[in-house]
Amino acid sequence: MEVVIRHTAAEVAEVAADILAGYIRPGGVLGVATGSTPIATYHELIARHGRGELSAEGVEFFALDEYVGLDHDHPQSYYRTLRDELIDPLEVDPEHLHVPDGTADPHKAGGIYEEQILAAGGIDCQLLGVGVNGHIGFNEPTSSLNSVTRLKTLHPQTVKDNARFFDSAEEVPRHVLTQGLGTIQRAGRLLLIATGANKADAVAKLVEGPLSAACPASILQWHPHATVVVDEEAAAGLANREYYEFAEANKPE
Ligand code: F6R
Repeated sequence: MEVVIRHTAAEVAEVAADILAGYIRPGGVLGVATGSTPIATYHELIARHGRGELSAEGVEFFALDEYVGLDHDHPQSYYRTLRDELIDPLEVDPEHLHVPDGTADPHKAGGIYEEQILAAGGIDCQLLGVGVNGHIGFNEPTSSLNSVTRLKTLHPQTVKDNARFFDSAEEVPRHVLTQGLGTIQRAGRLLLIATGANKADAVAKLVEGPLSAACPASILQWHPHATVVVDEEAAAGLANREYYEFAEANKPE
């Protein structure tokens, strides 16, 4: 695992956009996340697109997760969020955005989504945020390390965390469809970004703690090409920071 530390959230977005831009090419398959962390990275990609430096033509986009029961027009559905925050500003035809279907039979939607990923040839690079409890996608602690896209119940902490996007916590759906930890592991590359002091514990556990279902994001340790990009605040709990900085400064050609 490669750990990259930058001073600010804006610098994290720049590093993440540099990495993602390498996968935004005809035939590329990109896994995208929602939540607040990736927004600055998406702004950076959109700015590059605006300057004519990047075209997402011919790229397929796969979301990590979706709320059960919210249709495409619901403002808090991850489909709508990704359309508004990334797909439409990048001028991508929405038929290239794939999101688990929150209105389908939730017991079948996961398997259908797995088939869509397979049919696209697999995800080249999956962007990830991390929850304060170490979740990735909506794989809460104790999720099987080998799980596939499926129906899950949110952790009460996640309901609380995500209430900020809704009018009240009661409105946050309790059920979601999420790529599994096994699905995420099959992506060619994993890129996890985290910013802010509230992520410091989760970052320390996922980078330096044991590989464990208690911290789903720790599966990055098992992946052959995982990169974690964090700001100062999110890096605050890392014990081996000096090594990560040394490794970055002395990266082989
Ligand atoms: C979003 C997702 C979640 C978020 C995580 C962090 O698609 O799957 O795992 O990445 O909850 O959310 P933020 O970035 O809002 O702190």
